Order: sequence, then structure tokens, then C-alpha cells
Amino acid sequence: MIDNKKTIKPYTIALCHQKGGVGKTSSAAALGASLSEKGYSTLLIDLDPSGNLSAGLGFNPDAVELSFADIFLSAVQPEAAVQHTAYGNLDLLASNAELVAISHYLFNKKQYENLLLDLLSGSALSEYDRVIVDCPPILDALTITALTAADLAIIPTPCEYYSLQALESVFALIKLVRGKTNPALRYRLLVTMFDRRGNFHRRVMEQVQAHYQNAILETVIGFDTKIRESQLLGLPVTVHAPKTRAAVQYRALAEELESYV
Ligand SMILES: Nc1ncnc2c1ncn2[C@@H]1O[C@H](COP(=O)(O)OP(=O)(O)OP(=O)(O)O)[C@@H](O)[C@H]1O
Ligand SMILES: [Mg+2]
Repeated sequence: MIDNKKTIKPYTIALCHQKGGVGKTSSAAALGASLSEKGYSTLLIDLDPSGNLSAGLGFNPDAVELSFADIFLSAVQPEAAVQHTAYGNLDLLASNAELVAISHYLFNKKQYENLLLDLLSGSALSEYDRVIVDCPPILDALTITALTAADLAIIPTPCEYYSLQALESVFALIKLVRGKTNPALRYRLLVTMFDRRGNFHRRVMEQVQAHYQNAILETVIGFDTKIRESQLLGLPVTVHAPKTRAAVQYRALAEELESYV
């Protein structure tokens, strides 16, 4: 059912892919930090029960008391669940184990798809300029909730066969969400972990460009070991290594996305 409610909400980007390890979480953290660097008040939402985004920003998911799930399961005020990071106007709605429970619970709830959308348009969270949602590597109720709230779905993908093969199911889900709850949803592919010195990646990239043409973001994220290092330290890569290639590229991505807002 298409919900025609007029909503005012922050520009919302969901990072999603059915495949694991493609760079969803790394991109969410670095993009969020780049947007906050540009002066936008930015909320990162960790919708993955594994809590990688929260951990990557220095929050231990085992110690996180309130997540997106608690807002619904325990009627917690959304702003009370938000954590402030040490990086300017970058906030985090972190992950905890309750997200596993809510993923199952949601499927049985009427119109669950709109939960995040309603939250972002009808609570104090609507005050943010930008919201970035990190989805789990599974096309489940949480991902559908994120895509229903999103203006743009970014699908990170390395230039490797299995990630590209799994794109069809992501596109099928986007089509479903467009038909049911979010007709205005756009999507773009983001090439990640690109090895510019390797012939193989360059060849696959040519095929990806020929096949997906206008659906690919211009910014390409190269392979950069500083990303892994920054996650171990619990810092955004733009903070840990401001001049490293990936930090520069994620800032360029934040700039490129301006034209989408
Ligand atoms: N540009 C990059 N260069 C090098 N390593 C990267 C890059 N981006 C991500 N990585 C590394 O690849 C691994 C997977 O990245 P990430 O966790 O962001 O993927 P994900 O899609 O969120 O995975 P999952 O589906 O398991 O949540 C991590 O160890 C991360 O440090
Ligand atoms: Mg992840």
C-alpha cells in the first residue's frame, strides 16, 4: 500500500546489499563522518545486529543499552537512544542484541515497513540534516524498513563476481519496495575496494559500467588498508587518516551526493 502522507524528514541514505563484506558498514561510517565534516548534522543508524558500525565508531554493541529495537519494544524516546560521538555533529543510533528479536517481530506487525520512516518524520530525529542507515547483509524486515525510509539506496559492490551476481536480488527488493511503500526510492551502485593497479578489477569495472551505466556513482572507493586499521581503533577513517585515499574518496562521495538531495 502506498502511503501518501506528506512527510518532512532528513535526507536518508540506506547502505544495503545481500552480500556480506562488500563495504556497507565502512561506507556508512566514512560517509557519515564526511557529511558531518561538511557541517551537516548527521545521524548514523546501525540496523545490523552484528553491530559493526557501532564498534567501528568506538561503541561496544554488548554494552549498548538502547537501539532502534528498544524504541519500539520498550517505547523508549528516540532521542534518548541516540549516542553522541566525539566527531562534531555526528550521532549514532547504535546496535544491540534486541535487533535480532525485532527483525522477526516486525514481519508479523501491520505496516511495519513504515516504522523507520515514521520515526524520522515524526520525532526529534527529524531535526537531523542527513541520516545514513547501515543494513545487515540480508534482505530482511530491517532492510525493508530502511529502504522504505530512504531517499537513496547505495549498494556498495567490489568488482568481483559474487557481489555482482547478488545484485539481482537487491534490485528485486528495491522494485518491491517502490511498488509497495516508497515509489520515490532511487538507487546507485558504489564500487568499493577497487584495485586500480590490477587488470582484473579494471576489466570487471568496464563491464559494470557498460551494464549499469547511469546507475553507478562516479566516485570509486579504492582498496585502502587504513579502513581496516581505523575500524580496529574505533575511529572513522576520515578522522584516523584524514589524507588517506579512502578518506579523500569518501569526502568526494559526500560532495557527489549533494546533487541528489
Ligand atoms: N575500501 C576498502 N579497502 C580495504 N578494505 C576495506 C575497504 N572497505 C571495507 N574494507 C574491509 O572489508 C571488510 C568488509 O567491510 P564492511 O564491514 O564495511 O562490509 P559490510 O558490507 O558492511 O559487511 P557485512 O555484510 O558483514 O556487514 C572489513 O574488514 C573492512 O575493513
Ligand atoms: Mg556491515
